[in-house]
Formats: sequence, C-alpha cells, structure tokens
Amino acid sequence: MPEKKEKFYLTTPIYYTNGLPHIGHTYTTVVADVIRRYKRMRGYDVVMTTGTDEHGVNVERAAKKAGVPESEFVAKMAEAWRALWDELGIPGDEFIRTTDITHVRTVQWLFKLCRENGYVYKGHYTGQYCIYDNAFVNDAKPGDNCPDCGRPLETVTEENYFFKLSSFQKPLLDFYKKNPDFIQPDTRRNEIISFVEGGLKDLSITRTTIRWGIPVPGEEPHVFYVWFDALTAYLSAVGGPEYEKRGYWPADLHLVGKDIIRFHTVYWPAFLMAAMLPVPKQVWAHGWFMMDAAKMSKSKGNVVLPRPIVNMLGMDALRYFLLRDVVFGQDGNFSYDALVTRYNSDLANGLGNLASRVLTMIQNFFDGRIPSPSKTGAGAGHSTLGSSMTAVKGLLTEGAWDEKGQPTTKGHYDSLKFAAALQEIWQFISMIDNYLTQEKPWELAKDPSKRDHLAEVLYEAAEALRAISILAHPVIPNATQILWGKLGLPGDIGRQQMDELNWGGLKGGEQIKATPALFPRVDHQEAIERIESMANEELNPAPAAPAPAASVPAGTGASAAAAAAPAASDKIGIEDFAKVEMRVGQIKTAERIVGADKLLKLTVDIGTEIRQICAGIAQYYEPESLIGRKVAVVVNLAPRKLRGVESNGMIVAASVGPEGRPVLTAFLEEVEVGARLK
Ligand code: MSP
Repeated sequence: MPEKKEKFYLTTPIYYTNGLPHIGHTYTTVVADVIRRYKRMRGYDVVMTTGTDEHGVNVERAAKKAGVPESEFVAKMAEAWRALWDELGIPGDEFIRTTDITHVRTVQWLFKLCRENGYVYKGHYTGQYCIYDNAFVNDAKPGDNCPDCGRPLETVTEENYFFKLSSFQKPLLDFYKKNPDFIQPDTRRNEIISFVEGGLKDLSITRTTIRWGIPVPGEEPHVFYVWFDALTAYLSAVGGPEYEKRGYWPADLHLVGKDIIRFHTVYWPAFLMAAMLPVPKQVWAHGWFMMDAAKMSKSKGNVVLPRPIVNMLGMDALRYFLLRDVVFGQDGNFSYDALVTRYNSDLANGLGNLASRVLTMIQNFFDGRIPSPSKTGAGAGHSTLGSSMTAVKGLLTEGAWDEKGQPTTKGHYDSLKFAAALQEIWQFISMIDNYLTQEKPWELAKDPSKRDHLAEVLYEAAEALRAISILAHPVIPNATQILWGKLGLPGDIGRQQMDELNWGGLKGGEQIKATPALFPRVDHQEAIERIESMANEELNPAPAAPAPAASVPAGTGASAAAAAAPAASDKIGIEDFAKVEMRVGQIKTAERIVGADKLLKLTVDIGTEIRQICAGIAQYYEPESLIGRKVAVVVNLAPRKLRGVESNGMIVAASVGPEGRPVLTAFLEEVEVGARLK
C-alpha cells in the first residue's frame, strides 16, 4: 500500500468579472502556482483553487452597459479568466464560479447553519455604501467619498439579515493568540488584532437593493452580500456541505492581496465559527504591484498586462521577475526596465549561460554523453574541488535548515521567502561558474593525461545543474523541464522529490541534447518597445483591419509587421481594405525620444489636423531630413502610447531586407496634404 500523502489546500482570491486580469492578479495566481509545485515536490497531495466572483451591482451595471443578460456576461468573462490562466500555464485545479450551483447551495447551507446557531437576525440598516467595493462604509456621512477607492458613496436603507459579528470579538482574539501564524506577515497580524480589539459591529449579510445575487431561500428578494457569497467559494470548491468526503477542508493557505485581508481574517473565520465549521490555517497577505508608484487602473492607462511580456520573454521570465524582485508581502514597483534587466542578467547570462557552457563542453569533449562519475576518481583530492564543490553539494541537497540553524533554499520556500530562495539558488549558479573558471576544463581537455579530472569537473557541473533545476522548478517550470531533458533525464521534473535530492542522481552515460538556448539574450530597448507595443494593441484593439504588409507599426520594428501580415491565401474583401483610412500627411517636426533609440516623435499635418505620431525609423532617418516630407499615414488607428509617448496614427513604410529596414513612401507627382490613398 502506498503511503497516504498529506493534503495541502491553497487558494487565490476569486477575481471580479467586471475586468480582465492584469499583472497584479497574475502575481497572486503565479505565487499560488509556485507554492503548489513546491508542495508537490515535498510530497503533498495539493489542490489549488481559483475562480471568479460574479455577483453584485458592478456586474449588474456592466452587463446592462454591454446590453446582455448578467448570466451571459459573466459566463464570457469567467471563460476569459480561465482561458488566460490556461494559456499562462497556471490553471487552478479547481475553478469555482460563484454562479455554479454547487456554490449557490453551499452559501445557502452556510447561512442556514449560522442562523440555526443563533447568529443571524433581521434588522434595518441605513448607511453609506460604496457600490464599487460592494461595502457599507462605517462612520461615513452622506456626501463622503469611499475611503478605499475615493469614489462617491451612496446612502442606502435596507431591510437586512445581520450576522452577529460582535459576538466574535473574543473568540477571534483567542483564535489569533492560539494560532500565531494564522495571519501573515506579522505587520498585518498586528493591524488586524488592533482592529478587532477596537470592537466589532454586526454585519449585514443580505441585500434587497441588488437583484444579481444568490437568493436567500424563502426570503426573496433578499440576496446574499457579495462577501458572504464570495468567501464561501473556497469551501464550495472542495465539496461544500460534503467537504469531509474530499478531505481538503480546512484550507491550509488563503493567498490574498493586502486590500482584502480583513474580509479573510475577521469575517470569514467568524462565519465559519458561527457555523461550527473548521477555520482555515493561514491567510497570507502580499503587497501590491504599483506602476510609477500609483495603483494600476485602466482609466489611468498604467495597467501592465501579462500576455505581451510572456510573448516577448516567456512565462518563466515573468514568474522569475515577480518573485525575485519584490520581497513577498511588501509592495513593489513594476517596471519593464527592471524586468528586462533581470531577464538578461539572471536568466540569459546566469542560468542560461551556465547550462550552455556545461552542455557544450560535454558535447565537444565527451561526444554528448555525461561522463560517468565512477570513472572520474572523484575525491582524488585535487585542489579546488574540495573547497568550492563540496560546499555546493552539501547546500544543494540539505534540508530546510543548515547546521548553523539558518534557513536553506527549502526553508525559504517553506516560509514563502521566494526572493531569498532564488537569491540562494543563483548564488549556487555563480559558484559553479567560478568553479569552471578555476578548473578550466577547456585547458584540461588539451592534455590527455587529465582526462579523468576533466570528466570529474564536467560531471560535477552537470550534476549541479540537475540539482539547481529541481530547486528552481517551482518558479521556472518550463526552462527547468527543458534543462532536465537536455541533461538526458526522462519524465516530468515536477515529480522529483526535493527531499530525495541526493548528490549522484546523474549516473553518467546520459545522452545530452543540444537544443536552443534556454533564455536567448534580448536587446534591452527593443524588448521593452515590443512589449509596450503589444500591450497597447491589447488595451486598444485596432478595428478589425489587417495591417498592410509593408507598414511599420511605430516602435515594433518591421519584422513584427511582416509577421502580422495576412498569409497569401487570406484574401480580404475591398470592404475590409476600406476600413483602413490612409491619407497623405506632411511631417512638420521630428525629434528623437530619450531612452527609445528606435523611435522618432513626429508631428504630421494630415489635412484636417496635426497629429503626433511615433515611428520606429530613428535608426534610418535623421529627424531634420524628414521635415516637409510627404508620407502615407494610417489615420484611423486607435491611439496608443509608445515608451510613454502618445502616438495617434501610423506612418507607412516598406520593410526592406532581413533586418526590415523601413523605407518611407514618396510621391513622384505633387499631392495635396490630406488626400486619401485608395
Ligand atoms: N473578488 C474579490 C476577492 C474575493 S475572495 C473571496 C476581489 N477581486 S479582485 O479581482 O479585485 O482581485 C483582488 C486580488 O487581486 C487582490 O487581493 C490581489 O490578490 C490581486 N491584485 C489586484 N491588483 C493587484 C496589484 N496591483 N498588485 C498585486 N496584487 C493585486 O477583490
């Protein structure tokens, strides 16, 4: 009989369906995925839940605006969220929607238990309500703005069912005391404790002003307050009333952003205590990703999207950056500059370069077979192997604590200190780099009498790569799986157990694979420009007109334009072509953009107005040479920002040669500014 695995249940918040995921939501889901992978590699039977929070007045309004029934609106949005998580390789094992019937039943059941146990009563409530955050704001006066989002509050009076939250002040404080790890990090724990010590008011948990919600059985038109509804999703996802059958409840970990910690550490345990159900073991609140020190929002135009980054650098790069650059729990500023710098330094030059150095030498000196450790005379005691490599071996395979009581890589993962775990793994990488620099295998290869020593050095380096792949796998799953295959190892690296990471897993003789670089280096500026351009396109989709093959979308470079061109067989009708409005424009001013060496900022007269347009032609045209020149301009393209500069239109150019050199259009005869190209 195989030993029964210990269960581990973790959750992301369930996300609102009135918008689509940005980097902030992606962050929480990535962290959950990293923990899931890590726990599996420590032998747990893990379930991770994510999902969508689909009720409430915001959805009601958004559906109305879209002119579709709520159910249709949320079904589409939920599908978009689910599809993006799939695309990014971070799907939940469970995806719960608050419109799922299993969830509806669980909410109604939880309410019934709370009511039967005497914690629910009927009353009236008049208060100031924020329709955006779905919350009454205690102590607010009519005319106040919401303290969280700053938008105007509305005065609302309702007949409500109330939950006796006030009865839970002492039980909650006792619970926090008995379970000091329940709220993490400690700063948040202290905040919550003083909040609860300040006294708890009863909470209205039903609404009659909202229609789009879960009905309170026999009490229609009451529907449940969105947070009573949403929090319960964690339980619905693993069996609801039948949770004991599946055995994952109580949750081991709720991962949340700091904005929603109170709901998770005060309301949620109180609801569960009232129903006499088990309370989750831990709530971990992480910080916020800001853009230029401001909260991201579509209206501010500073939303960072995951897909363009992944298209340019790969999902592992995004995951690595999110976990490496910010201490988990604290706020962080998102910048493309820091992202691309990390990519080139840690991934392309760090791990990628080490892997290709070692594999290339094994290819060249041992015909692509990992030298066998038994034939290497390991331990024969030559100079440097003793010092640096022995230390690395020990560190890579140890437990959660080293002999001095300091946390190791595993210890850091256990306490969700991802940046520290990665820092440690990357220290191993540079230790192996140094080891190679000291041992100089390329020199050893020249002397046949040093063959054994050469074999030993390359074996040790390859074995270190194997260990590093396992330790880094939770964060960069794709690259480590590829590296695993390159080392000639079979199967899914995610099934490896970190606790069985003994030195000597490579047996020697494995056939390595010389596949393309793990993380090809990218040109810093160009990578940023491409990401920004793709993000612009996703945020402001152009009308469904295919890009002309020879055009140069500003800032993207001509090769991207060529890639976006329709295949020869994809003929379009004249009506499609007619959607692209091209006019003769005359360039009035032209200047370079600081920090964007491919872009020029132009002002262009298109007959009816003067437009600002950015064009990716700076490497081929001197700004002064362009003044007065007449060019073809696509004038009905949605405006977008390139390197922070607004671009309202696109200059058309031929894309010439393999590097896609842009050549601007010219007119042999006199043409009027503003004339339409047909
Ligand atoms: N639906 C509620 C949660 C209910 S859970 C029972 C909700 N949804 S949300 O769509 O607004 O997503 C909130 C979560 O997304 C935050 O708690 C956080 O985990 C994540 N983030 C959203 N923006 C963020 C940043 N800018 N930075 C980091 N994470 C943030 O609240």
